[in-house]
Amino acid sequence: MRTVLGVAGGIAAYKACHVIRRLRELGHSVKVVPTASALNFVGAATFEALSSQTVTTDVFDEVDTVNHVRIGQEAELVVIAPATANVLAKLAAGIADDLLTATVLTTTAEIVVAPAMHTEMWQNPATVANIATLKRRGIHVLEPAVGRLTGPDSGPGRLPEPETIVDFALAAAADPTTPPTASTGSETDDSASSTAGPLHGRHLVISAGGTREPLDPVRFLGNRSSGKQGIALARAAVAAGAQVHVVAANIDSGLVATLPPGVRITNAESTLELQTQMHAAQAEADAIIMAAAVADYRPAERTDSKMKKTGGEGVTLNLVQNPDVLVGLVESRREHQVIIGFAAETGDPHHSALDYAKAKFRRKGVDLLVFNDVSDDRAFGHDDTAVQILSADGGDVTASAEFHGSKDEVSEKVIEALVSRVECVESSA
Ligand code: CTP
Repeated sequence: MRTVLGVAGGIAAYKACHVIRRLRELGHSVKVVPTASALNFVGAATFEALSSQTVTTDVFDEVDTVNHVRIGQEAELVVIAPATANVLAKLAAGIADDLLTATVLTTTAEIVVAPAMHTEMWQNPATVANIATLKRRGIHVLEPAVGRLTGPDSGPGRLPEPETIVDFALAAAADPTTPPTASTGSETDDSASSTAGPLHGRHLVISAGGTREPLDPVRFLGNRSSGKQGIALARAAVAAGAQVHVVAANIDSGLVATLPPGVRITNAESTLELQTQMHAAQAEADAIIMAAAVADYRPAERTDSKMKKTGGEGVTLNLVQNPDVLVGLVESRREHQVIIGFAAETGDPHHSALDYAKAKFRRKGVDLLVFNDVSDDRAFGHDDTAVQILSADGGDVTASAEFHGSKDEVSEKVIEALVSRVECVESSA
């Protein structure tokens, strides 16, 4: 296959060398198109030697061969690794001011981008919006890995390993409608939703698991959510025909493996990461279910080295409030998007757990709220649960009868309620 490897100017550009080598080992030709700044990290001679093809960055080089159009036209697959925030912004805007961006504009081949940048840049709303735009246009995005970045800092933004990039890209080229699996928290086959079923053709985004708020490289503040409910919801949604994207917060890989093929998976560790991933996914969603247990607070500071014991006096942690992800999604929802929240409540002598759930329904602005009573610890980590589904048709908040059963059975009820809600929203549109 004739591949084009775009390389943008980031420290991870060195990994592009391994991508070239791997693609060639697999029998593909590689035309490397670096940006000018990429050549600050890896020289053109290295790319030429590894690819056995000439390397240029400028549209005015090799003008006689009309390079800026020809390379894109001839490509059967275009991969950009690493893709910097700057290049992603140019692609989203359709700017073509160098050979790489011109190539992307002229190609009809599948395009795969593997972003790599500092966490702050990756989570910046501009980058989040650009990624959503590119995904909407069918560009395959290999989400960055979480790990050590250029400096002492770490977080999401690291370029995945070359083998992962190559596997992801070749799978995208083999079946463009099927975003492939990636080990770094990314995309899996999108095509396995049932062709029948009331949610056929609908995109559903589900957050699952529990967030972890890092204190230092080895410790975090977390919660007891296993992710079983969110994973069960994903299975039920696939059975109902939906295309499902799970944003998974710290779920055991064995449990994730129980998802049917075709579910897209994105990993998020902390609340801020979850927020970024949910907003990125929101653009494509017909419905969103926030089943994740989200930490309301995070440590004000995360230390780079392990916190040491300071004596017997104990330690005081400063916490800052996390954003309410669900409320943020409700505020930025698009028309007819159905949003479902979860509420695990306990009662007290003044109010029942249900009273608190009803108040939460109003506060969050959701369409449906799945309420479970966790007074006796029965929800977290267990297979059985009992829920009521709150809705408000007209003025008052009403609660359904309580459903008892396994998390799979309860999930079917939640998906049934979602289907009714989607139909109701559409018929009133
Ligand atoms: N949620 C969220 N972001 C937060 C907290 C909660 O998106 N920072 C979402 C959860 O995923 C769930 C719903 O809001 O769908 C209710 O979560 P819950 O923890 O019950 O509510 P809180 O808003 O944390 O309210 P409180 O702890 O005061 O009861």
